[in-house]
Amino acid sequence: MGSLSREEILQLLLREVELLAAEGERTLPIAEEALESFRQGSVAAEHVPNPTTSPAENSAAKDPKENAIPPPPTFSLPDGDKATRWNALREIVLGCPVCRSHVKPTLKVVFGVGNLDADIFFCGEAPGADEERHGEPFVGRAGQLLNKIIEAMGLHRSDVYIGNIMNWRPEMPTPYGNRPPTQAEMEFCLPYLRAQVEIVSPKAIVALGATAVNGLLGYDPDRRLGDVRGRWHQFAGLPLMVTYHPSYLLRNPSPTAKRSAWEDLLQVMERISLPISERQRNFFL
Ligand code: URA
Repeated sequence: MGSLSREEILQLLLREVELLAAEGERTLPIAEEALESFRQGSVAAEHVPNPTTSPAENSAAKDPKENAIPPPPTFSLPDGDKATRWNALREIVLGCPVCRSHVKPTLKVVFGVGNLDADIFFCGEAPGADEERHGEPFVGRAGQLLNKIIEAMGLHRSDVYIGNIMNWRPEMPTPYGNRPPTQAEMEFCLPYLRAQVEIVSPKAIVALGATAVNGLLGYDPDRRLGDVRGRWHQFAGLPLMVTYHPSYLLRNPSPTAKRSAWEDLLQVMERISLPISERQRNFFL
């Protein structure tokens, strides 16, 4: 793998700092070795966490500003049971020309997965490199942690529904990393997410991280995750709990962060009347 330029390193750092700030972090630990690489202006790509695509793969990436986002789509679904409506919606989203125009031909538009009768609907941000390869939300490292969280709740991945605000991976000017979607991108995809929520009609929605909150509760650049996390809100008339994104917990695996996220999920379990053992109540204490 090659080296990253100073510009690419700066963009990665900026994205990381923006994510941490959105999650409410006020301090940033940084290793002396990382500072030294940065001072020298270049770092081997394999030293950067989560390089997501190879330069060749990404050579077609477009600046999002060059690819203006049209107004949100309107569409209608056939009458019928949940599966009929969900299948029709999936066809619409996978064939959506706007979504497709943001995804390279070898990669996939990503639609939600899971149990159409689920009590819990987890909503993430946007596909990453793994997800756009597989065409399924949360199949990378963050997805593995989400699976563990679901299992800690006494459920399996196949018991819940998992979707994202975005159906495509927001393009990056560099081959590495991810960026949060713009407001226009989120607004474009929101009708697709809303339709999934309406079909599944869960007892609770769990918004994972700041971008899911911006998508579901309305874009507000001044809102901090700490302002809304751990409390009940509403989306489409359904109860919505806000918690940390699994990627945040991977970057910040402190017992405090894990316990806070777990307390959010205990609230969800109580709300939907899932049994909670004494052991579960005490996780991460
Ligand atoms: N992060 C998300 O928010 N969604 C995914 O599907 C994967 C990672």
